[in-house]
Amino acid sequence: MQASVDRIRRDIDRINQYTGPGLGINRLSFTPEHQGAVDYVRKQLEAIDYEMRVTAHGNYRFRRKGDDWSQPAVTSGSHLDAVPEGGRFDGVAGVVAAVEVARLLAESGDKPSVPYEIIVFSEEEGSRFGGVLTGSKAMIGSLTKKDLVQMQDQTGISYIEAIENIGVNTSDWDKAVIHPGDINAYFELHIEQSLVLETKGIPVGIVTDITGIRIYRITYQGVPNHAGATPMPLREDSLAAAAEAIQAIESLAQGASGGTMVGTVGIIENEPNVSNVIPGRTHFSLDLRDIDRECLVNMSETIISQVKDIATRRGINCTIKMTADAPPVSLSNRARQALLDATKELGIKALEMPSGAGHDAQEMARVTDVGMIFVPSIGGRSHCPEEESRFTDIAHGTSVLYSAIRKLCL
Ligand code: GLV
Ligand code: MN
Ligand code: MN
Repeated sequence: MQASVDRIRRDIDRINQYTGPGLGINRLSFTPEHQGAVDYVRKQLEAIDYEMRVTAHGNYRFRRKGDDWSQPAVTSGSHLDAVPEGGRFDGVAGVVAAVEVARLLAESGDKPSVPYEIIVFSEEEGSRFGGVLTGSKAMIGSLTKKDLVQMQDQTGISYIEAIENIGVNTSDWDKAVIHPGDINAYFELHIEQSLVLETKGIPVGIVTDITGIRIYRITYQGVPNHAGATPMPLREDSLAAAAEAIQAIESLAQGASGGTMVGTVGIIENEPNVSNVIPGRTHFSLDLRDIDRECLVNMSETIISQVKDIATRRGINCTIKMTADAPPVSLSNRARQALLDATKELGIKALEMPSGAGHDAQEMARVTDVGMIFVPSIGGRSHCPEEESRFTDIAHGTSVLYSAIRKLCL
């Protein structure tokens, strides 16, 4: 059976009606926009006899009514939260594909002996509470309830408060954690977010490895002073120090051997941020990634030591906090093979490739077999309003997903 392009297009368009003001898509976790999108998915699945369980961690799980929730399921999903001014496909494509698989299974008339489950993870992007892959990390127990009391949004609301405010009962936190053996397999379809598939003219990617990510929040504390009256040698300028650090990060990441290291400073907050005052305090982020764990750890240590050296040389203070650490993973042979077999059966050309973006799949890979499908991103743009993929490509990827999942469920 083939996935329906029309249903996929409709689902993606409807979900993206749930967006806040601003360019592109604005849908932070647990906001009314996010709740609207989750509710749309719930209604689609209820129409084919699925029920929703909201987990104590604020994720959403769906199985057919009457299925045994204690039996390990073959699962698929992704996320509905988006980066600010984000695109229409990141996360949404994977959720919609997982829903379409449920429809195809229902239409096939097959009687699966292993249940199929859809999972919608929350706060994958970390755009509201500052981590990354937060819902999936909570689900597998690598972030505790205490951790999530400490993770707060810009208004001081913690992750726990945010989910309790929308009615989530967090008392079963530990019982909701998933352990090895609790899930049969996890599959995620995602847009590629780069140019490889489009450049090679290949409609489907099968992911081999997912990048490791370390995120830091760095603060330089200098001395605010008069921009006119303070001579250059007497300044303790936190922003000038940050500028030096940002350049060092770029050249260290560029010079890394292996060619898969990337380093980004995406946030800069400067105080008092006034033209005639020497900056006194500057916060900036560091997002460092590599598919090689050892290279990632070594490079993060090198960068952090340079960041400290810059502060020492300039006579200012420096504080550094690691806010996320997701190790790289190689995906399971079993799940990868199921996807490769499906592409062969369907006559769809596929390319095995690594993922430079982070995905909930890499957290799930710590507790179960994980497979990931990429579909081409037009122009390789992502995390921006210009993010674009063809609905026909998403449908091809979904047909591959369905074929692999059906085999494991029967
Ligand atoms: C998630 O999209 C990430 O790769 O940061
Ligand atoms: Mn994503
Ligand atoms: Mn993303």
